[in-house]
Amino acid sequence: MNPDAPPLLSYHQRTKHTLQRYAKGPETIDWEDQPDPFRRFSGCAVLSLPKPGRDLPVRFTGLDQPQAIAPQPLDSANIGLLLELAFGLSAWKQFGPSRWALRCNPSSGNLHPTEAYLISTGQDFIPSGVHHYISHDHSLEQRCQFTETAVESGLFVGLSSVHWREAWKYGERAYRYCQHDIGHALGALRYAAATLGWSVDILTELADVEIAALLGVERHDDFKKHEHEAPDVLCRIRTADPAPASYQTLLALLPSAIWSGKADSLRAYHLYHWPVIDEVADAAHKPHTQPAPWQTAPQLPLPSACQRGAAQIIRQRRSAQQFDGKMPSLPSADFYRMLSAVLPSTAAFEFWQSAPKVHLFIFVHRVEGLASGLYALLRDGVALKPLQAATSPLFGWQQRHESLPFYHLYDGDLRTIAKTLSCHQPIASDSAFSLAMVAEFGAVIKAEPWQYRRLFWECGLIGQVLYLEAEAAGVRGTGIGCYFDDSVHEILGIKDDAFQSLYHFTIGKPLEDSRLQTFPAYGHLQGQQQ
Ligand SMILES: Cc1cc2nc3c(=O)[nH]c(=O)nc-3n(C[C@H](O)[C@H](O)[C@H](O)COP(=O)(O)O)c2cc1C
Repeated sequence: MNPDAPPLLSYHQRTKHTLQRYAKGPETIDWEDQPDPFRRFSGCAVLSLPKPGRDLPVRFTGLDQPQAIAPQPLDSANIGLLLELAFGLSAWKQFGPSRWALRCNPSSGNLHPTEAYLISTGQDFIPSGVHHYISHDHSLEQRCQFTETAVESGLFVGLSSVHWREAWKYGERAYRYCQHDIGHALGALRYAAATLGWSVDILTELADVEIAALLGVERHDDFKKHEHEAPDVLCRIRTADPAPASYQTLLALLPSAIWSGKADSLRAYHLYHWPVIDEVADAAHKPHTQPAPWQTAPQLPLPSACQRGAAQIIRQRRSAQQFDGKMPSLPSADFYRMLSAVLPSTAAFEFWQSAPKVHLFIFVHRVEGLASGLYALLRDGVALKPLQAATSPLFGWQQRHESLPFYHLYDGDLRTIAKTLSCHQPIASDSAFSLAMVAEFGAVIKAEPWQYRRLFWECGLIGQVLYLEAEAAGVRGTGIGCYFDDSVHEILGIKDDAFQSLYHFTIGKPLEDSRLQTFPAYGHLQGQQQ
């Protein structure tokens, strides 16, 4: 490693898994000592949200054109549904004495470092202030009350990460996974909002210090040592209200805030410390920036035959643990629909507002009409020449679809290679296809180091779209954070940091583990809520 490399590049380099050694992580894991995945604050007023599990008549394919969905009224039932479909529980699983919750948003290792906050500036339905969402109880803890009244009422959702929760299992590489999880959570929020006929603005200009002040996560005395939250992102929720509050309104309310509560301990022993995570978090710190919205002409994804409801698809999303390696080929219509759904011109990316920097290199194993081999989906045509120059000269780069920027690169049975590259996980080879998300990298983060996080968010967002599209096609996906970085680069012919592989994903026919029992998401609240 070059000792003069900017801190982010050296962090990225040192947290690569290689065939010879995994990135630094704990030598032993005491599963009994797992950090509590549900944060609670003691000493706050608690507001129970209306009963979860409600349905809406919107079909999943209706989310392709969210502007055609009539906005649901802004009331506590719909605010509850927004939070539930984005971050709420989707099921409980049990194996022997172990029982764990799954959520609408996935998380590496199911550790859930992401915390969600709802901020309201109006007095209707939700008291004006900052509220922490507890997915387990489907309730809000009021962390702060604004004593001044805002001129405009508005609804915001903020996200933060407890890095340590992820580092407990994954050590130094955990910071990357926390960023992936934020991308997934952003995607989950946009799908939840669209189901209600609402939309999301990512407030990209805000600095981390501003977000920290708004979420109360810079109040270090309110958190146990090492269990603090790092600020990530603030979003405005657009409901039917034509003039919702701006973030300036929100910042102006801060001096009038009265805070309450202290975070309970996450109850795990801090056996290992990973100071490089605090260092990388400092290096990737975001200042206030001017908005530079990027837009492209909106386009519909290719048609989907899915007839199921949006809320149903969102609640049934799971990660496949194993695939049927003998599955019939995935129908080509399903495959191309999924690819078209991750293009930046679709409604799912409308709120992203930045030029796409992540492209897909796809290991096709079982897809109707396609020879096994390596393919690419370019999410921005301008990347074609740089990617051709940066990757193997053996790649053919023949466009294989009349309307999608989808290219054939290389023929061959890549199942063993795909499995090996993804830390020897069979989910990368027994699927219909697996893929590497390759990002424009070195120049981007040298110019603006905080973009390091956003590259991972973009990957997580693509992953969330793929998770839901897979469910809609009757198959299943799994995010793959464990892969051998430079071995992937070697197979693709990438020789420097102009492009880097930042996330993997796989989709196929899942095999259910019959030893696992499944229980309803909110059975434990039965009889408690209105
Ligand atoms: C960023 C990220 C990385 C992941 N990496 C892997 C992986 O390498 N292997 C794997 O089997 N599952 C992986 N998963 C799947 C998680 O284990 C899964 O999301 C979690 O257990 C929760 O289960 P659910 O997705 O069914 O809700 C990953 C998920 C995410 C979001």
